[in-house]
Amino acid sequence: MKIIIDTDPGQDDALTILLALISPEIELLGVTTVAGNVGVQQATINALKTMELAGREDIPVFMGADRPLLRPLVNATHVHGRTGFEGADLPDPTITAAPEHAVDFLIRTVMDHPPGTITLCAIGPMTNLALAIAREPALRERVARIVTMSGAFSEVGNITPTAEFNIYVDPHAAAIVLESGIPITMLPLDVTHTLHTSAARLARFEALPNRVGAVVADWLRFEKRFEATKYGTDGGPLHDPNTVLWLLKPDLYRGRNVNVRVETGSELTMGMSVVDWWGVSGLPTNVLFLRECDVDAAYDLITERLARFPA
Ligand code: RIB
Ligand code: CA
Repeated sequence: MKIIIDTDPGQDDALTILLALISPEIELLGVTTVAGNVGVQQATINALKTMELAGREDIPVFMGADRPLLRPLVNATHVHGRTGFEGADLPDPTITAAPEHAVDFLIRTVMDHPPGTITLCAIGPMTNLALAIAREPALRERVARIVTMSGAFSEVGNITPTAEFNIYVDPHAAAIVLESGIPITMLPLDVTHTLHTSAARLARFEALPNRVGAVVADWLRFEKRFEATKYGTDGGPLHDPNTVLWLLKPDLYRGRNVNVRVETGSELTMGMSVVDWWGVSGLPTNVLFLRECDVDAAYDLITERLARFPA
């Protein structure tokens, strides 16, 4: 599977990148960064740090949009810390981002490969994807699938009472992606909130005989301090890695093909993902919306893959 990860690292984003890098089923062609959890400059630094942590300085990182299409930028430093990477102290990167803009890289890569070859893994606001689709409409027929961590149905909102963060930051971009006709798999809060980063699970990462395991445990321990308190659970949700886990083992997840639209008019419900779970709208289905996961098997898979990193 040839994929591009579009991301706003964020500790959970970084784990997603690490899982893609270590899994032979996946060829990660590049990472594109977008403003979200933190500003795009910081997100790019964090992506470069992740490549160096993995010893994969060969994978290019491309900087993308520094703000949403229309909305003012909202960040999530309250969850991820000022740098978006709190929890583990990684050295400043010695590598730099590629000179090409993320949107140009997305378009060029999809157009240079046969239709249906490239999968886009969107784990931040979808600003870059929307810009690419607007710039090159042929992407509508050529992108194999967009696998995104975003949205929510019965789990409702995390950044507002009704909206999930990635869609809330750039609801207009999400609407363009949802209306693009590109096959979409959505891993919403409904499923990410069932994967608690419990102390026992983090201890398994910590016990791995490599530095990556310890760093991931430290990252998630930081991220959960806010979310475990908010939700009163042993550990916080694990969001973005569900995208790569689904690519690796889709049978771990369950859901259904539904219609999903996004609120872009009302300030009260801005960024709400309106999920027609019961098919009452008669609108075409545009999303494989996944609400359940075999959580223990998912954590076994994460642990088994992290164990593959060298000591
Ligand atoms: O709502 C969860 C999403 O917001 C995840 O992508 C997390 O990294 C944050 O960006
Ligand atoms: Ca993210």
